[in-house]
Amino acid sequence: MTRSAPGVFIAGTGSYAPSRVVSNDEISTYVETSDEWIRSRTGIRERRFAEEGETASTMGAKAAEVAMESANVPASEIDLIIVATLSPDMFFPSTASLIQTQLGINKVTSFDLSAACSGFIYGIEVASNMMRSGAFRNALVIGSEKISSILDWEDRTTCVLFGDGAGAVVLSNTDTENTGIIDSYTGNDGSKAQLLCLPGGGSAIPPSHDSLEQRQHFLKMNGREVFKIAVRWMEQSARIMLERHGLKPEDINLIIPHQANLRIIDALARTTKIPKDKFFVNLDRYGNTSAASIPIALHEARQKGCIQSGDYVLLVAFGAGLTWGSTLIKWH
Ligand code: ACO
Repeated sequence: MTRSAPGVFIAGTGSYAPSRVVSNDEISTYVETSDEWIRSRTGIRERRFAEEGETASTMGAKAAEVAMESANVPASEIDLIIVATLSPDMFFPSTASLIQTQLGINKVTSFDLSAACSGFIYGIEVASNMMRSGAFRNALVIGSEKISSILDWEDRTTCVLFGDGAGAVVLSNTDTENTGIIDSYTGNDGSKAQLLCLPGGGSAIPPSHDSLEQRQHFLKMNGREVFKIAVRWMEQSARIMLERHGLKPEDINLIIPHQANLRIIDALARTTKIPKDKFFVNLDRYGNTSAASIPIALHEARQKGCIQSGDYVLLVAFGAGLTWGSTLIKWH
């Protein structure tokens, strides 16, 4: 199916990174690992960890403030807030509700969206379709994560990979055709849910002494399996978007992949045939920030002047669910 969907564009971007920088050397004082192992297997050199008192909502609100300023859209004109996160402040109310209040926004539609590392792309898809209905004019789509709060420091295969931070965009309506958010594609294979999950704390395994002892409240991942599936579905997500719009790999000016692992990104460059120098990569400084990774990278790419008017920008993600997705943007 080909969809031409003018009407919504990214009016502003923002990000927030906690000030605490945690190097691979520091990580190797907590678990048996090394800077060499982490760099060669993942490309990560350092990550940020939230300070005491910082949460998904406080970081998300800060990223949103930057995005609203860059869009020149005041809080009073925001009428929709969607927050993608796998590390919400609490189960309920939503992190979006908390961010709404921190931004001084009153009584607008606000909710969280659970699609792990693909959450930002899911959020863009949901927000832009809600806006195309005409019911909303300016939306905040935020990815915010405090993954350090769910890392198991007895599991070196996962705790070295992740970091904290937040990214945000303001989506606004536009009358200019064929510009802005052109299309999104999303998918999910729930049969592989167990490969990457946080088993405890929900209705399946409510908190108990046993669940704590069994370390059920930490992130669990079968990294090797996730790696293989990530490459396959990210390639498919990129290919579907190119095919739907009659684009060739060389037509893409910038691709912003989910920042999980440099080897996944290298494999994606090989399989999509999109030249490696068109991939924006900042995972060396942030690690995997899940739903925050793409909006943080998008904001940095703009700050570095990597995106020009008329450029095709492709976002591609993969995450727990297992979820995947892509968004094609023609920059305004
Ligand atoms: N330090 C040192 N050695 C380690 C570490 C570590 N931190 N972790 C594992 N090892 C060891 C293992 O024990 C193993 O040793 P063995 O051969 O003696 O058994 C060896 O290193 C190799 O382990 P592998 O798991 O095969 O390592 P691999 O090359 O697959 O890399 C990694 C592991 C980095 C996790 C990789 O599989 C990966 O990146 N997977 C994808 C994960 C991912 O990107 N997930 C994002 C999903 S997004 C979301 O929704 C959260």
